[in-house]
Amino acid sequence: MKIAVLPGDGIGTEIMAEAVKVLQVLDLRFELESALVGGAAYEAHGHPLPDATLQLAKDADAILFGAVGDWKYDKLERHLRPEQAILGLRKNLGLFANFRPAICYEQLVGASSLKPELIAGLDILIIRELTGDIYFGQPRGRRTAADGHFPGAEEAFDTMRYSRPEIERIAHVAFQAARKRDKRVTSVDKANVLETFQFWKDVVSEVGLLYPDVALDHMYVDNAAMQLVKAPKKFDVLVTGNMFGDILSDEAAMLTGSIGMLPSASLNSSNQGLYEPSHGSAPDIAGQGVANPLATILSVAMMLRFSLNQPQAALRIEAAVKDVLAAGWRTGDIYSEGTTRVGTRAMGDAVVAALHKSKG
Ligand code: IPM
Ligand code: MG
Repeated sequence: MKIAVLPGDGIGTEIMAEAVKVLQVLDLRFELESALVGGAAYEAHGHPLPDATLQLAKDADAILFGAVGDWKYDKLERHLRPEQAILGLRKNLGLFANFRPAICYEQLVGASSLKPELIAGLDILIIRELTGDIYFGQPRGRRTAADGHFPGAEEAFDTMRYSRPEIERIAHVAFQAARKRDKRVTSVDKANVLETFQFWKDVVSEVGLLYPDVALDHMYVDNAAMQLVKAPKKFDVLVTGNMFGDILSDEAAMLTGSIGMLPSASLNSSNQGLYEPSHGSAPDIAGQGVANPLATILSVAMMLRFSLNQPQAALRIEAAVKDVLAAGWRTGDIYSEGTTRVGTRAMGDAVVAALHKSKG
């Protein structure tokens, strides 16, 4: 089994070192190969997703991705910006199904900005369609307006679109995921305004008929944004399009108060996947050894489960992370009084130690 390791920028390299350490403690045979991606690749090769990196990713069974981006690249032309690396990987590998769990760990209830009773025990899963919608829709661009409120003025436009097969396949992913959980799917749309999302709602409803054991409801995205902070525990699986999922998954992540804890998976139809923490490259704390590596370590667990068929190893990692939290180890982002503040490397070491212990 081959794993492409793409640390990227900012804290990406620091957290990835810990994730690789954890991977190597497991008695499993993997071939690991690293490559530059994002700003780091742009500096070295003039492109955020060089051909060699893309090829490595294509040839791998799974991709472990750190984070990309830095403010210093904000002025580059769009196709050279670090974010294009992740968009390019999603598109080129067909990674259409994005899993973003938002789980509130018992010991971290106090880290949320919401009242503890609202989020204690929170365990929701956002499934975001990742290769369509207005993020990839053509045509897009700038031009002179032929009509509208200001004919003759400079304007910009993007295209929101979804085809039936794109909606069907992500809906199947959501219903199947729900079957392994509480068997409830909420499909998030904006059917009251957008043609694209009336179609979305219709197609998800049709697919839902094939899953009579799963309860399906529909919610407008503005209401979903509100319900997520009002009563987040009411949700089980949320499924939605690329843009709404981008926004709602950040909101859901922050409910737990600890975005540094949340992994994510992006899968294609052959279960090849890209695994990354839900947080970004955090250039403000890069190089200081203080970033939380747990989201990346938990991404390793997701990778073992979804792409590498090693569910036992995944469970071991997840248990080790819980042990480390129970023992009071905290990086700065999840620190609270009475716990022990540690840096990135010490946190990785603590997980490795917990894994050794669980081996017996
Ligand atoms: C995410 C990020 C990306 C996205 C950016 C970096 C392009 O926000 O993974 O949610 O918008 O999808
Ligand atoms: Mg986002």
